[in-house]
Amino acid sequence: MKRRIIITGGAGFIGSHVVRLFVNKYPNYQIINLDSLTYAGNLMNLADIEDKENYKFIKGDITDEIFVNHLFETEKPDGIIHLAAESHVDRSISDPLAFAKTNILGTMILLNAFKDLWKNNIDDKLFYHISTDEVYGSLGSEGLFEETTPYSPNSPYSASKASSDHFVRAYGETYNLPYLISNCSNNYGSYQFPEKLIPLFINNIIHNKALPVYGDGNYTRDWLYVIDHAIAIDLIFHKGKLTETYNIGGFNEWKNIDLVKLLCSQMDTKLNRKQGASETLITYVKDRPGHDLRYAIDASKISKELGWKPTVTFEEGLTKTIDWYVSNADWLNNVTSGDYLKYYNKQYQ
Ligand code: NAD
Ligand code: TYD
Repeated sequence: MKRRIIITGGAGFIGSHVVRLFVNKYPNYQIINLDSLTYAGNLMNLADIEDKENYKFIKGDITDEIFVNHLFETEKPDGIIHLAAESHVDRSISDPLAFAKTNILGTMILLNAFKDLWKNNIDDKLFYHISTDEVYGSLGSEGLFEETTPYSPNSPYSASKASSDHFVRAYGETYNLPYLISNCSNNYGSYQFPEKLIPLFINNIIHNKALPVYGDGNYTRDWLYVIDHAIAIDLIFHKGKLTETYNIGGFNEWKNIDLVKLLCSQMDTKLNRKQGASETLITYVKDRPGHDLRYAIDASKISKELGWKPTVTFEEGLTKTIDWYVSNADWLNNVTSGDYLKYYNKQYQ
């Protein structure tokens, strides 16, 4: 079946992997990447597919209502996969309103444009909203996030994502808009902007810079290789049951400090440094305000209903990720110049 799909945020980390997967796997789909190219968006992420016939990039802001309405009327997408967002918790602490604008208002503008475009003919269309496990708040040392876990967001980032999830559901209930939502755990892999833990620390190790571990480092995250997230998104888009939520996770919990030590050891091997050299860069710094103790996903629903499970182990994924950053020094240098330095100095002083 021929489809026209707008993927928002396709020039970002996860979005670029989703765009690549769809463009390569579905030559008969028209894939339209809508992205405003904020600091986190980068067309270098898609250089390998930019000339494909079934791919088109459109630069634009999802918070610009007139632009979005016009784009939807011209492109007539029958599917939306919505990833565009402000995505970094630390930035949400210093600039919460930017998160409300893009993540809440931007999502509403897309929902509204989609609803108005298809009016009485919306039944076979789909709005797929990509969300995060952070909407569930923080776990103690026990338990897992299930699809039924009540929302309890603690950061401006997670509160804005929770709000956007609620609006998607509300458009489903009120206007019969066909939708799906997935809530995924922490991703890692190639093309991730080096403000998030893993690429930030890889970049700092390469440059022999301090590794700023927040608080005591005993915070836990559930890590998933980004390509496994893209595979899950493809499955949910095509086989997910409308109005359902799917949790996606790596079955892979790590305390930050243990993960950082593993990363240091793998980096020492990769860079031919003495074992233990990178660990000396670990520096404990002031904690993040409202820091969630633990995230961990129960991914049994997507596993049972759609047959999804991660395809790579954490050790394999981390090795691939390290290899990618070390052999793509141009990409890293390009994104860590200019404004990045200002951000870095302000955040880590
Ligand atoms: P990212 O920050 O790498 O990319 C976000 C993209 O959105 C960028 O290309 C940026 O230019 C674009 N964008 C931002 N504001 C925009 C606007 N107003 N209009 C148009 N485009 C805009 O983010 P990511 O890590 O790839 O996350 C993608 C999505 O997945 C987000 O919705 C995020 O909440 C969700 N998510 C991320 C993770 C993770 O670990 N990174 C985990 C679960 C869910
Ligand atoms: P991050 O990659 O920002 O993802 P999230 O906050 O969305 O989970 O952070 C992952 C974990 O690493 C989180 O517990 C915060 C911690 N962290 C540090 O200790 N130092 C850092 O410099 C960063 C960016 C994160």
